[in-house]
Amino acid sequence: MRIGILTSGGDCPGLNAVIRGAVLKGTEINGQEFVGFRDGWRGVVAGDIIDLPRLAVRGIAKEGGTIIGTSRTNPFEGEGGPERIQATLDRLGIDAVIAIGGEGTLAAAKRLTDAGLKIVGVPKTIDNDLNGTDYTFGFDTAIEIATEAMDRLRTTGDSHSRCMVAEVMGRHVGWIALHSGMAAGAHAILIPEQKTSLEQIGAWVRSAADRGRAPLVVVAEGWVPNHADDAHSERGLDAFGRPRLGGIGERLAPMIEELTGIETRATTLGHIQRGGVPTAYDRVLATRLGMASSDLAQDEAWGNMVSLRGTEIERVGFEEALTALKTVPQHRYDEAAMLFG
Ligand code: F6P
Repeated sequence: MRIGILTSGGDCPGLNAVIRGAVLKGTEINGQEFVGFRDGWRGVVAGDIIDLPRLAVRGIAKEGGTIIGTSRTNPFEGEGGPERIQATLDRLGIDAVIAIGGEGTLAAAKRLTDAGLKIVGVPKTIDNDLNGTDYTFGFDTAIEIATEAMDRLRTTGDSHSRCMVAEVMGRHVGWIALHSGMAAGAHAILIPEQKTSLEQIGAWVRSAADRGRAPLVVVAEGWVPNHADDAHSERGLDAFGRPRLGGIGERLAPMIEELTGIETRATTLGHIQRGGVPTAYDRVLATRLGMASSDLAQDEAWGNMVSLRGTEIERVGFEEALTALKTVPQHRYDEAAMLFG
């Protein structure tokens, strides 16, 4: 069986480990052959491929990014669509596709599979907001990077008696904010799932300052202040017509300063959370998922993706990942909030 692999959507530490796991298991055990589509679905639509022999994946588990490139191309737009893609796969002699991606990628993969294409999936996002799997690779690396940055913000905050605001990724959910904030001992964590008033934030910040601590406030990029007439929550659209992300930390800092009288600085961690080497945990998880994706294709389990359940790798239908985003449950936020202030 000749398999094409693609990585799609935002990059994520561990993508290369997935590719390596699939190619090693596939070539050594399952008798498969691999190519990579360049830049996600763009490469599928354009038939733009590179060979992925065993040698091409040597030593890449520790590399950040993706050796085959990624993009946010939608396979149903432009020259795409199931018939044309199937014709391209036939022309290239590709029997099946392993799609590594997040919600958008898996939704597209499901539509294509429903139309008869042979696709299996590997769930991917640093945000950890996909259902159908307990954790996604890349999340552990993101929280490690964010926690380390917060540890650094705390020492400079302490030296100047300032409140430090750290903005982390998470446009719809607060998993990165919750885990990195808990690890760093944040005095407040603000996530999209929770409505939190400025007064409450001010109270937490003052209480930490009263105990002689430099307050650390962690905010997810998708958090919106909880007061109706707040001009700061008006983010507008970006050049592509998408809701503008990021910048909430910069807007929140002056509000905290005004409310508490405590000098406040903001830092946006941004794409640093997605770059660089994956943690050992993510390398292992991604390698296991990659190996299992080769088995899925071998079993012709089209329309399924690999998934982590507890400590085991299992297989579930694409639809399990597409029902709804996996948000932070109330009890997990309440547990963290017991330590705020
Ligand atoms: O979904 C992963 C993610 O990293 C989000 O946390 C973030 O909002 C978004 O991607 C950023 O996307 P881009 O790299 O396209 O700016």
